[in-house]
Amino acid sequence: MGLVLGIDVSTTATKAILVDPEGTLRGSGSAAYDVSMPRPLWSEQEPADWWDAARSAIRAALTSADASGADVEAVGLTGQMHGAVMLDAAGAVLRPAILWNDQRTAAECDEVRALVGPERLIAITGNDAITGFTAPKLLWVRNHEPETWARVAHVLLPKDYVRYRLTGEYATDAADGSGTILFDLARRTWSPEVLRALALDPAWFPPVFEGPQATGRVSAAAADATGLAEGTPVVGGGGDQAANAVGVGVVAEGSVALSLGTSGVIFAANTAPLHEPHGRVHAFCHAVPATWHLMSVMLSAAGSLRWFRDALAPGEEFGALAGSAGQVEAATDALFFLPYLSGERSPHPDPLARGAFVGLSLQHDRRHMARAVLEGVAFGLRDGLELMIAAGMPRPVQLRASGGGLASGTWRQILADVLDAELLTTSTTEGASFGAAILAAVGIGWFEDVAAAAASLVRTSPVSEPGPARMAYADAYAAYRELYPALAPVFHRR
Ligand code: XUL
Repeated sequence: MGLVLGIDVSTTATKAILVDPEGTLRGSGSAAYDVSMPRPLWSEQEPADWWDAARSAIRAALTSADASGADVEAVGLTGQMHGAVMLDAAGAVLRPAILWNDQRTAAECDEVRALVGPERLIAITGNDAITGFTAPKLLWVRNHEPETWARVAHVLLPKDYVRYRLTGEYATDAADGSGTILFDLARRTWSPEVLRALALDPAWFPPVFEGPQATGRVSAAAADATGLAEGTPVVGGGGDQAANAVGVGVVAEGSVALSLGTSGVIFAANTAPLHEPHGRVHAFCHAVPATWHLMSVMLSAAGSLRWFRDALAPGEEFGALAGSAGQVEAATDALFFLPYLSGERSPHPDPLARGAFVGLSLQHDRRHMARAVLEGVAFGLRDGLELMIAAGMPRPVQLRASGGGLASGTWRQILADVLDAELLTTSTTEGASFGAAILAAVGIGWFEDVAAAAASLVRTSPVSEPGPARMAYADAYAAYRELYPALAPVFHRR
């Protein structure tokens, strides 16, 4: 039985899936772990937990597929991006990994900008410094934990720690590497200028590979630990956003993905290293060779609906709540919701931004408020999309949509109207782990390249297209755009 293994080292669990050459899921396993928040704003995990979870997830996947290690021809890795894993010269972990959602590094973001120069930083890396990214986390350890800092010999991203335990090799891929903001975006590797400006030793950073390229082979010790066969190749893979895009077939210029989970992401593949002049949307390498991507990230998308349900409609089913929004008119009576409940990344990189209902009147009830939440999320996503288009990508006419929020027909229609694009769903639902499996399959020659693999494995079905409410939303969106600048001084007074 020929299989490839995709492993996703996410923030909540490590998941392993086995896929055959037709793209059929043949087995899966998952093992969960916790995030530790030892202080306000901190978010950490023990790299050893990822490896323990990977070992059990791989074994569970093999058992559920009734397969042996010898059936697995290649492994692809994906995972949470931007985390900082620091090892000593012997490869021992020096401190818990600092994760993508850790917010402690506001001062270090300023330090990164000052040391590299704010314009140079964006020109080289494609991005401004934000607390989520890796570079400011390294500076935080230098500023606050000098004893740990003195022993650093290797810096890895989360999934690359699992790669190290699987193969004994230090390696990363261009997509995940570019999320450190220590990369030269156009050259797809570490930037000597940025490393020099930040006084970071280039020897700490691993060699960079493309997503489908082999980076090493499963070691004898890892074969023992996981049930895989010694010598199985492990490909570069990619960060979770890039791998998810591969998994839904967003691999070539002009194709765009929308994912509506707790956070909301719009991801567009490009054939050039485009970036937004102020770094307000992310610009990273794609997991597809010679391909880049722009990405806008809204922190509270379906998370806003969850908050609304928990705060104002406890016990209500999400479907019923979103459906109730369909009983009132689009853009009702100028009632707006701002979705910045946990600060925002795109288009307002502002940890102090907050949510708001604006324009409430005696005529409004919970249905109008629910509709405003669904519309506010769609307007926020549109804000990100407009910045991506201004950065040079073509305006999309279709979006490959995934995520729990898409279950609501009302929300789907609002998104199609506000984003003025047809929404398609895909036949593949395993997300980033499926993308990692595709990259492994390309790496061992099952397909000529990632585009051929995606064309053969990913099917789409249209689900919603823009309707008459489009026009009402054009006006409402213009009003929505005035709200953040007007309210920002209030948010910043705290
Ligand atoms: C992407 C990002 C998240 C993390 C965690 O920029 O921060 O997608 O990778 O999943």
